Amino acid sequence: MKNREILELEVNGHRRQTAARPYDVLLDVLRDGLDLTGTKRGCDMGTCGCCTVLMDGKPVLSCLTLAGQCEGKAITTIEGLKDGAHLHPLQKCFADAGGSQCGFCTPGFLMTCTALLEKNQEPSDGEIREAISGNMCRCTGYVKIIEAIQQSAEVLRARKAGNEGQADV
Ligand code: FES
Ligand code: FES
Repeated sequence: MKNREILELEVNGHRRQTAARPYDVLLDVLRDGLDLTGTKRGCDMGTCGCCTVLMDGKPVLSCLTLAGQCEGKAITTIEGLKDGAHLHPLQKCFADAGGSQCGFCTPGFLMTCTALLEKNQEPSDGEIREAISGNMCRCTGYVKIIEAIQQSAEVLRARKAGNEGQADV
C-alpha cells in the first residue's frame, strides 16, 4: 500500500474506489485494482489498441493514460458494453461474422467501434478502416471485422428506425 492513495473513478456507470500510485496507468487500475480483466494488455506501449476503453465516449489507450487523469470522467470498458442480459450488436455481430477468432484484440476493437458507431451509423468501409487503424489483429485479416462492423451498423440503423417509427405513432 506504500505510496498508494484512494482513487475514485466512474466505471461503467458505477463509482468505484481503489488504491493506486500516482504513476499507475488506467490499464493496471482496471485489471488489478478493479478486477475488470476484459481490457487486454498487448504491447503496453501504445501500438496495438488492445487496451482501448472509452473516456467520456472517446477511445483512449488505457496503457498510456494515467489513472489519476481519469477522475471525474466516465470510463466505459468492455464489461459495460452489454445492456443487461443483451449483448451489444457489435458483440453479437463480431461473434456471428467471425470478426473475433482468438479474441484477444476484440475488446479493443469493440470499444473503438462503439465510439465510431455512436457518431456515424452509416460508415463507409474506408471510414471503418480509418477508425480501426490503431487496432491490431493477428488472426482475422480484418475483412470479417469490417463485415461485422457493417452488420452492427445495420442493426443499429434498423433499431433507430424502429424507435422513430414508434415515436411517430
Ligand atoms: S496495450 Fe495499450 S496499445 Fe497495446
Ligand atoms: S482475433 Fe486474434 S488477434 Fe484478433
